[in-house]
Amino acid sequence: MSTASYGRTHLAGLPEAVTICEVGPRDGLQNESTVLPVEVKAEFVARLVDAGHTVVETTSFVHPKWVPQLADAEALLGAITPAEGVRYPVLVPNERGLDRALDLGVRDIAVFGSTTETFAERNLNRTVDESLEMFAPVVGRAREAGLAVRAYLSMCFGDPWEGEVPVPRVVDVATRMMALGCTELGLGDTIGVATPGRVVALLDALTAAGVPVGRIAVHFHDTYGQALANTLAALQHGVTTVDASAGGLGGCPYAGSATGNLATEDLLWQLEGLGIRTGVDLRKMVETSVWLAKELGRPSPSRTVAALAG
Ligand code: HMG
Ligand code: MG
Repeated sequence: MSTASYGRTHLAGLPEAVTICEVGPRDGLQNESTVLPVEVKAEFVARLVDAGHTVVETTSFVHPKWVPQLADAEALLGAITPAEGVRYPVLVPNERGLDRALDLGVRDIAVFGSTTETFAERNLNRTVDESLEMFAPVVGRAREAGLAVRAYLSMCFGDPWEGEVPVPRVVDVATRMMALGCTELGLGDTIGVATPGRVVALLDALTAAGVPVGRIAVHFHDTYGQALANTLAALQHGVTTVDASAGGLGGCPYAGSATGNLATEDLLWQLEGLGIRTGVDLRKMVETSVWLAKELGRPSPSRTVAALAG
């Protein structure tokens, strides 16, 4: 059950190791109609850590009415025994969310902005400028407390209401978010419309604007089947942190036409075949996604899970 049976060959210009940010418990579960009991979520997180993940985005401290699937954030963190060397980032939109996260000793947070006004209104009930004003004290206080802060930026390539998003617009919002003091930039292709040339053009523009590529993570949804191609293009341009979701679950309830994230198993199949280290065990991930599919009552969207599950 591995790429070893079919051969592994390096490709020039790629990193030796990639950090996977596993977003299954957050992005994966936030859009599911089935709300899992907190013990099942805790087992999911434990299985991901057991598979070798060192970054597991666990939940969101958002308004429970906005994302009822993650309303149990406090209970979930209480049910997890943190493992040595593993980070458990959570989404935090505002100071209320930060207070909730700090009360539980969270060390990694992510704020989440939008390149477009329509999605900012729908997802955060704010304009783009107002959302940056909302994030400023969150990032300031979090950094002062020594937390790592990711700046997610959604709709980096296209928006279901506004269409193509021009590169300068993305660079403008991204650099403003990084100027708040964020430690990482997560480029969100929320509705999965990017293609590799567009990814490279954006990375070039961001690095030219002074964002070090080592601080950029990519977060591709797989709506049009482009997530793996886009990931390879990003790796060839110096990115080493890639978001993926167990089994390919995911989507944003406030983004029309968003479907699942790049599946962790599909990513692992590619990275293993290229001889790139991740520390994550493909067999354990497939077992986890098969287990989770039973809990959710629907099959995993990942092609690799389907191929290896039998
Ligand atoms: P709002 O209604 O404007 O909030 O929502 P408000 O500031 O006016 O406050 C209203 C009430 O909510 C107040 O209570 C606050 O205390 C409470 P009241 O005084 O009326 O009793 N409240 C909260 N309660 C708990 N936790 C909080 C919180 N904040 C306020 N954090 C808000 C604004 C940002 C809260 C809302 O829009 C929200 O929660 N949005 C979250 C949407 C979301 O989670 N979307 C999915 C994640 S983003 C995503 O998936 C994209 C990503 O994957 C990248 C990609 O793919 O592109 C990251
Ligand atoms: Mg997402």
